Amino acid sequence: VILKQALAAAIARLTAQAVPSPRLNAETLLMFTLGCDRAYLFAHSERELNSDELGRYEKALAERASGVPAQYITGHQEFWGLDLIVSPAVLIPRPETEHVIECVLHLLKQREPPVRVAGSNILQPDESPLRIADVGTGSGCIALALAKELPQATIDATDISASALQVAGANAARHQMQSRVHFHQADLMAGLPHGCYDFVVSNPPYVGESEEDAVQLEVRKFEPRNAVFAGPKGSEVIELLIPQAYIALKPGGWLVLELSATIAQDVSHLLRPWAAVCITPDLQGIPRVICAQRVPREFGGIA
Ligand SMILES: C[S@@+](CC[C@H](N)C(=O)[O-])C[C@H]1O[C@@H](n2cnc3c(N)ncnc32)[C@H](O)[C@@H]1O
Repeated sequence: VILKQALAAAIARLTAQAVPSPRLNAETLLMFTLGCDRAYLFAHSERELNSDELGRYEKALAERASGVPAQYITGHQEFWGLDLIVSPAVLIPRPETEHVIECVLHLLKQREPPVRVAGSNILQPDESPLRIADVGTGSGCIALALAKELPQATIDATDISASALQVAGANAARHQMQSRVHFHQADLMAGLPHGCYDFVVSNPPYVGESEEDAVQLEVRKFEPRNAVFAGPKGSEVIELLIPQAYIALKPGGWLVLELSATIAQDVSHLLRPWAAVCITPDLQGIPRVICAQRVPREFGGIA
């Protein structure tokens, strides 16, 4: 069998099994099987596949046809330009989570202008040290994307799942960020220091059990349940996280949370005592990220 025949047969098979984006999936799994890039598939479309290659392609296609996400078969997902390892222990990083990174970078740009220290050079805002906490880090995608963008930042990343933290640790090692990204097995922010973070970021579980039927079957069947569902309403984990984040942040520090349209109102309500609350929509116009500032220190107020 030559490459283009194997590919055509795979597309037909995935189409018949109602797998979404059959061509993309068939190509991704063939690139994985052959250890090649997309250009190779087109440049070598007449190449014979040997029996070992055909056997491995068949196995990958059978898994995908049974509903296993392609990322769990290949073990990879890209996020913010980083190639990340994923396993069924972690949520597959989603493109909409990149809005969390964008919001943090946007808030940093808006920070007050650099202070001129007498007799020295101007201290650029992007040079002052930053402390960030990422709660529910999963694959480590948010922590590592922020570490990549902000070389002056140190990041504490937590997860309740030890197996998720193993994946996140492997990703930090692959991208040589272990010295600035520290992982902690913890329930939300338990054990983290108080009053010291410039940012607390999180893509927490935020789907309500009452919305379960609306969640893709593949997500329900294959992604970790405690990464997706928070409780009956969906806002339960965020409700616990908000007061912990308040204590952990410096005065003037920012909380940046991913959420869904379903809970946006509830979460805005919970954040009423905070300053500068703002919701950012995703590319589909759906509320996706909420930012809120811990009230800056008042003159004469308590720290
Ligand atoms: C929606 S996933 C997000 C993973 C990753 N940050 C991302 O954006 O792809 C939520 C993560 O929170 C973790 N988690 C759930 N409950 C938690 C808790 N009480 N404390 C810490 N982590 C928790 C889950 O294990 C999961 O890795």
